This record gives sequence, structure tokens and C-alpha cells, in this order.
Amino acid sequence: MATSPETAFPPLDGDGRVDVTVIGGGIAGITTAFLLKKAGLTVALIDAYRIITGTTGHTTAKITSLHRLVYRDLIDRVGSGKAKQYADANQAGLNLIASLVREYDIPCDFVRKPAYTYAESEESRDLVMDEADAARSLGLPAVFTEEVPLPGRTHGAVILEDQAQFHPRNYLLLLAGHLPGEGSYVFEMTRAVDLEERADGVVVKTDRGSLSSDYAVLATHYPIYDRPGAYFARMQPSRSYALGIRIDEPFPNGIFINVAAPVHSWRSQPAGDGDLVIVTGAPHDTGKAADTRAHYRSLEAYARSVYPVRSVDYHWSAQDYITADRIPYIGRIAAGHDRVYVATGFQKWGMAAGTAAGMILADLIRGRTNPWAEVFDPSRFREQPEFPDRVRKRLAAAGGAIEVGTDRIDHEIGTIPPGEGKVIEIDGQKVAVYRDGGGEIHTLDPTCMHMGCTVAWNNAEKSWDCPCHGSRYAADGRVIESPTVRDLRRKEVVRR
Ligand SMILES: Cc1cc2nc3c(=O)[nH]c(=O)nc-3n(C[C@H](O)[C@H](O)[C@H](O)COP(=O)(O)OP(=O)(O)OC[C@H]3O[C@@H](n4cnc5c(N)ncnc54)[C@H](O)[C@@H]3O)c2cc1C
Ligand code: FES
Repeated sequence: MATSPETAFPPLDGDGRVDVTVIGGGIAGITTAFLLKKAGLTVALIDAYRIITGTTGHTTAKITSLHRLVYRDLIDRVGSGKAKQYADANQAGLNLIASLVREYDIPCDFVRKPAYTYAESEESRDLVMDEADAARSLGLPAVFTEEVPLPGRTHGAVILEDQAQFHPRNYLLLLAGHLPGEGSYVFEMTRAVDLEERADGVVVKTDRGSLSSDYAVLATHYPIYDRPGAYFARMQPSRSYALGIRIDEPFPNGIFINVAAPVHSWRSQPAGDGDLVIVTGAPHDTGKAADTRAHYRSLEAYARSVYPVRSVDYHWSAQDYITADRIPYIGRIAAGHDRVYVATGFQKWGMAAGTAAGMILADLIRGRTNPWAEVFDPSRFREQPEFPDRVRKRLAAAGGAIEVGTDRIDHEIGTIPPGEGKVIEIDGQKVAVYRDGGGEIHTLDPTCMHMGCTVAWNNAEKSWDCPCHGSRYAADGRVIESPTVRDLRRKEVVRR
């Protein structure tokens, strides 16, 4: 975000029609839109904010098919055939990025590197050896090695050669720049709020007008239209923390992640004069950490235990979705819904897979078969719970006022320092209270407007985060992240 230009695409103004509406300007949406336009279709890519400022703008951007330990597990659970589809799709995603970088001469620091999953204990050593065998059996060039060029004692690693890293914004900005023209568009600051499936197409309703098209693609990270496939029952949001640090020694050639918890991942990135080293980790389920600042502290302490850290130049956090079977959902949103497609659940491995998602969706929308579509098919689960009526009622009742005794509420509010927030519960009634930097109190209903769970305060990012499906809201209640499309409701506190 700090080392690439900002965008200024216009918002949608009124209604329009294209062949395909792609909602969400991250790696999945931009790649899908780009490939569809290249194939001769007209597309409209819309984003609620500026493109590539969601998780793709806050990723660590290793492009690899080595997803920590995945292949032994996949072979055991879904069989070698589907595990090979998973591996081939990721390799194809990586190779597509490489070929587009070459074809369009994209200045995005794309560089091939070996990917390592390394063991830090003797028990983990067997796991990486086994992973190397499993990956090789699927045709990936994986080997076990004793040599891990990171400081400290390690117990071997699986290496996958010829993987890569890049600057994801600089790469995607160029692809997005090719979208407008010949009947295609990019609309920023345009939030999709609903979607209507019709026999002859789809209407995407936004806060700026409606877009009609033959097909719609939900690439909003978590699908904002999630009822047909009951995605709310099949994915968990997980946040991770990242630091951009400077160290006094050269960083080794490779991209690295460890086997056992807590997870730590390393890579370097040219930035200014010299390399920035990006270290990530300290994950937790969104909305379920009492003190999110502690996650930055523990990550920094870990980084300092590995390298002498000269400076911490950047820090940020972001989230991604973990699916029920640890395989992304890419394809028709649900059986019988032939005009709406989805790409989600990348489990913190969305660069190669998000690109493969674009390839799969572009094929399916054009009526072509795709060799890897089966393993990612979202309708692989039969069980599809209903959107319960009680949720509808809860959302309809959100907002209004709570009536409480003066002493109790004032005591609770008095414990909140400036710049902090808290969900206060008195006599079974809840209110989300934020005290701004100037000391003024803002009160909101903590009912998440997606499906009615109670949001929690995130003290590091100053946001309200929902533990159920990862919707996030600014301190004043405005939507930051999907699946919600509605702000938190105001809630008045009436003192008795
Ligand atoms: C800390 C961290 C590190 C990671 N590191 C790696 C890595 O090294 N390698 C790797 O392969 N993967 C990595 N990942 C995973 C990868 O970054 C993600 O899987 C990927 O970026 C997800 O892309 P996306 O296009 O699905 O979503 P996003 O990039 O989040 O894009 C979704 C877009 O949809 C828009 N949107 C949302 N709601 C609406 C709406 N209602 N209307 C219109 N637009 C909307 C948002 O504004 C956003 O721009 C990492 C993830 C995290 C959290
Ligand atoms: S994100 Fe689904 S209920 Fe909050």
C-alpha cells in the first residue's frame, strides 16, 4: 500500500449492462475480470472502496503451491486425483502470473524463489519428509532437505523449487488498467448491496445504481450473497499480523513457513534502499482476541529472537477465510444457481489459488470445462442450512435504545479510555461504546448486520470485528469488510 500508486476509478452512476459483473477488486476479482475481457466479454468490476485495498493489499504475496503441509492430508481425505487438481491449479496460477508479467512487462518485483516448509522439532521432521513424498507423487518438484538457510536450529524442510514472490498491487494495478474500454468498466466506491437472480440473468444492486448481466461473480472475499450455498456455516475468518522489518544481514534466498504452531512466515521484498523483511504470524480467529495489540508485540518479540532487528518500518493485520475442508470454494455459488459464481476461502494461500480461481471461473462462465474445477466445486457439501427466521427478526430489531440505571452505565463507560471501545452488557441488553480521542462517547448496537452475532472491539485496529463470519466495522460503525453490507445501527442509551 505504501509503495504503489493509488487508484481513482469513477463510481457507478445509474444503471448499466455488461456480460459479466465482477464484485470485488482483489486478486480473485481482477484476474477473473481480466481473463473474461481478454476472451471477448464485456465486464464491470466494482469495489466498495478502492481496488486492491482489501486482503490482497495486505497480503505477504508469496506465490506458491506449497501451502505449509497440505498434500498428504488432501490425498488422505479426497484422494490423489483431486489432490492433483489442487496442485495443478496452483501451479497454473503461478505460471499465469509469470507469463502475464512477461507479456505485459509488469514492474512488480516478480522473482522466482524456492518455497520452504521447515520443521523446528524432530516430530515435525517426519511430517515434512512425508509432505515432500506426497507432493512429489502428485507431480510437484518437491524434495526433502536438511539445509534451511534461516538462523536457529531446524530439523529439515520440504522445498518446492521455482515458486515466486511479487508486489501484488503493482501487478494487479496493471491488469485492472486494461479493464476499462470497449464496453467494460471499473467502478470504485460502489458497494453491491444485493443480488437478484432471474431466468435470463442477474441484477447486482449497488448503492449507486444497478448492473444487469448474464453472470455475476462474487469475489468480495467472503461472498456478500451467501444464502444459496450457506457459506456462513462453512467458513471461519482468521486474522494474522505482519511486520516489515530491516535487519543488518542479508536475508536468505527463499520464502519460508514453519510446520508447527505458532505459525511464522518469512520473505523479503525490495523496498527503498535494500530489502524489507516481512514476517507474519500470531493468528487468531477474528473477533476472538481480547487484546489484539498483544499479537503485534508477540510477533515482534519472535522476530527479534530470530534476527537482530534494526527497525520495524511497517505493521499491519489482515484476515482470510478457512473452509470446512481446507479447500477454497470456486465455482457456481450452489447447485441450481447457474448465473452466480464465487471464489473464496483461500486459507491464507490466495495468490496462486486466487489466480487459478480467475482461470476456472472464466472457463465455467464461457461454458468450457476446466480440469481443476471439480476439487473446488462449492456444491461439494450437501448440507445447506436455512437462513433462520430468528436472524431476520434480530436484524430488524437492531438499533433503538436501551434503558439502564445511571450508576451502572456511567461506571462501565468510565472504564473506557480515549480511543478505546467495549461492548457493555447490563440486564441482558448490549451496547457497543466507543470513546473517541476527544473523549466523546459514541454508542452503537453491537448486533452484526450480517446475521446478528455480537461484534467485539479490536484495540489494535480500532474496529468492531464479528467473530461469526468476519464482518468488520470502523469505530463509528461503518462497514470495513464483508460479508456485511450494512453499517452497525446507532443505539441510544436512556438513563433511568
Ligand atoms: C496476513 C496475510 C498474509 C497472507 N499471505 C499470503 C501469501 O503469502 N501467499 C498467498 O498465496 N496468500 C496469502 N494470503 C491470502 C491472500 O492474501 C488472500 O487469500 C487473497 O488476497 C484474497 O483475495 P480476494 O480477492 O479473495 O479478496 P480481497 O483482496 O479482500 O478482495 C475483496 C474485495 O471485495 C471488495 N468488497 C467487499 N464487499 C464488497 C461489496 N459489498 N461490494 C463491492 N465490493 C466489495 C473489498 O473492498 C475488496 O477490495 C495472506 C492472507 C493474510 C491475511
Ligand atoms: S459476520 Fe456474520 S454475523 Fe457477523
